[in-house]
Amino acid sequence: MNILIKNGVIVSAIDEYRADILIEDEKIVAIGTGLDNRADKIIDATGKYILPGGVDEHVHYGSFGSMTFETSDAAIVGGTTTIVDFAPQQKGLSIKESVKLHNETLAKGVSAADYSFHCVVTDPSDKIFEEIPTLAKEGISTLKFFMAYKGTPLMVDDSTIFKALQVAKDSGVTIMVHAENGDIVDTLQKQLVSEGKTDPKYHADARPPLVEVEATKRAIYLSRMADAPIFIVHVSCKEAMEAIRDANIQGTPVYGETCTHYLTLTEECLAKPNFEGAKYVCSPPLRKQEHLDSLWEAVNKGWLLAVGSDHCAVKGGFEKGKRKGMGDFSTIPNGCPGVQDRLALMWTYGVEKGRISRQRFVDLFATTPAKVVGLFPQKGQIAIGSDADIVIFDPDFKGVISVKNSLYGSDYNPFEGLEQIGRAEKVFLRGKLAAENGKFIGKLGEGRYIKAKPFGLCYENFKDANTKIQHKVIVE
Ligand code: URP
Ligand code: ZN
Ligand code: ZN
Repeated sequence: MNILIKNGVIVSAIDEYRADILIEDEKIVAIGTGLDNRADKIIDATGKYILPGGVDEHVHYGSFGSMTFETSDAAIVGGTTTIVDFAPQQKGLSIKESVKLHNETLAKGVSAADYSFHCVVTDPSDKIFEEIPTLAKEGISTLKFFMAYKGTPLMVDDSTIFKALQVAKDSGVTIMVHAENGDIVDTLQKQLVSEGKTDPKYHADARPPLVEVEATKRAIYLSRMADAPIFIVHVSCKEAMEAIRDANIQGTPVYGETCTHYLTLTEECLAKPNFEGAKYVCSPPLRKQEHLDSLWEAVNKGWLLAVGSDHCAVKGGFEKGKRKGMGDFSTIPNGCPGVQDRLALMWTYGVEKGRISRQRFVDLFATTPAKVVGLFPQKGQIAIGSDADIVIFDPDFKGVISVKNSLYGSDYNPFEGLEQIGRAEKVFLRGKLAAENGKFIGKLGEGRYIKAKPFGLCYENFKDANTKIQHKVIVE
């Protein structure tokens, strides 16, 4: 069936214009005027913006004690049609086996949104370094390494990251890092708890900006020493962002993303009474207002490339999940839900406040994340040949974010009570209407696994990588 979306204003990462969009099966087949005679169904989008479906390249489903893909309808309702989930490497299993297992046991037949995977390397052996150059063929083009969470299998040493960078670059696999100094965090946590400082607010004291800045700078040096691109996830503070910006300007292929909560919530949330601060425990922690201001400047100027949600809805929510950490903040399960609210927050507190343009919004929300993870041009833009992942956006909607309308499967929403301007009125996943006015009308399981291409955006200016870049190839 053909669908024509008429009279809307299409917003892209570089411009906006009034035109109609013809969808045939799963793809956008024409953009222009005078297309009515080719359509079986016409949708009038007068007064609306037409945005590409969001690409959230930072979500956790089923790892870190989080809820699984059964709640991925939250993404669709919030205008995000593609999610990139972190699949943890299982002890003794290869990267490919771990991703396959994660897909088959959690995502396949369940996800409401299209999805792809980064693998989190937790058991690095010689075999893993031999495997990395073979991953691109399998559609795994990004790997995450943790410099933090000492005492868990997550934290790896510098040598592991360095070797991964060395072996990844020829095949275009992008190495991502969680940059916090795990040794210092561990030391500070123990010191604070031994002083009786056990409330959630001490989570921020155990992970001050310098812990992130040091690890970020170390990651940049590792990238320089290995002569390979690196992507720093969830940048939360000014100095870490500046380190990335400055190193990039000087020629190091280092890039970064931030996340919606670092742009909209301050560390004061951690001090909420009755242990409610635990609702906001995520790592890196929330920061002071000056950091939020500098992160908005960074996303506006392109010093940070993407805004993910770092969606990680802890199982049991606040009452049965976060409360497990009562008496010792360092045991509060990390992570906050956010995938449903990313569009609303970026629009309300970015576009509506004049901090970013509509074009920057689209770039940060969909286009550049798709490029970073190797899903562009199939995902992340409205163009002929791309998947018909489309949001009809009502800029006049006014509401308030609330757990009552959230599909997180959680008993709280960290953005509760925040004003919302604009809403994803209709969300199409590959041409099929999947959400309308905040209600999910698709089906769980309709999301498809999209294999990622190598040589993502972090390779764009990297030596001879332009000759190998796959995302420039027109989709069939
Ligand atoms: O607190 C967070 N961010 N939880 C998810 C894991 C991570 O580090 O991304
Ligand atoms: Zn992380
Ligand atoms: Zn994360």
